[in-house]
Amino acid sequence: MKVGMLTGGGDCPGLNAVIRAVVRKGIFHYKDEFVGFLEGWRGLIENQSIPLDLAAVAGILPRGGTILRTSRTNPSKRPDGLDKCINSFKANNLDALIAIGGDDTLSVAQKLHEKGLKVIGVPKTIDNDLAGTDFTFGFDTAVNIATEAIDRVHTTAEAHNRVMVVEVMGRDAGWIALYSGVAGGADVILIPESPFDIDNVAETIKTRHGRGRYFSIVVVAEGAKFSADVDPQHGAPVLADLGKDEFGHARLGGVGNSLAREIERRTGFETRTVVLGHIQRGGSPSAFDRVLATRYGLGAIDMVHHGDFGCMAAIRGNKITSVPLADAIAKNRTVDQEMIKVASGILEQSSPAE
Ligand code: F6P
Repeated sequence: MKVGMLTGGGDCPGLNAVIRAVVRKGIFHYKDEFVGFLEGWRGLIENQSIPLDLAAVAGILPRGGTILRTSRTNPSKRPDGLDKCINSFKANNLDALIAIGGDDTLSVAQKLHEKGLKVIGVPKTIDNDLAGTDFTFGFDTAVNIATEAIDRVHTTAEAHNRVMVVEVMGRDAGWIALYSGVAGGADVILIPESPFDIDNVAETIKTRHGRGRYFSIVVVAEGAKFSADVDPQHGAPVLADLGKDEFGHARLGGVGNSLAREIERRTGFETRTVVLGHIQRGGSPSAFDRVLATRYGLGAIDMVHHGDFGCMAAIRGNKITSVPLADAIAKNRTVDQEMIKVASGILEQSSPAE
């Protein structure tokens, strides 16, 4: 078979491991041929591709980023974008297309599937918020990076008697904040799922310092919102600027700084902010993510040969399986009650459940 592949949306550690696994199994076991479209859907719209053979994927397993590069191009927003994708598919004599991406990329894959294109999805996002699968690759790496940062921030917070606010990624779901906050021993964890009361946060910190602790660590997801009643931001996420991407998403960022300012104002404790940003997405994938991404890649190429089109490779209870793309993009997967319970058990107050 001749199979096309692309990576879309924000990059994520493990993308190259997926590409490598697809190509190796496809060539070794199915005698497939591959082309890689460059920069997400833009490559398919403009028919920009490179051959993907064994040499092209040699040595890429530990590399961050994606050898196919990526973009947030939305074919539905370009003139005849979806039809141009279909034309490129035909012009390259493809039998199938594997789209590796998050909910935006996979929503385009679903539209193309509805137009009859033989497409398969692989879930990707450090945010871990895609429905239909237990974990996305890249999440573990991001959590490890955030946890190491929190550990480092801990010692300087302690040395200076400060409150340190660590802003991590997580647009709609607080998975990274919750996991890294628990792993790093944060005192307050704030997630997009539950708008927080800034007075409660300040009280929690004062109570802790009243017990003789003289520093605190607050982990906040970029999408966390001040609750509407005591609210410098009027209950909306804090935006980095007013621009939006082609899928209509605003650029988040700044909640950490707003939070630090309000904490300092209410408690009188010196407070600083660290924004981890894209450091969480860059660099080499963890061993866990390399294995998970490899399993996703193997699952995807098997799905091509089983004719499992319109579906996404997924992991459920440590088994690779297949779920309809429509289910995966229907909603965001927010943090589960199990993890909320873990955090709530450890934290003094201002638990993510509040
Ligand atoms: O979707 C993953 C993500 O890392 C979000 O957490 C974040 O809001 C967004 O990507 C940032 O995207 P960009 O790299 O386009 O600024």
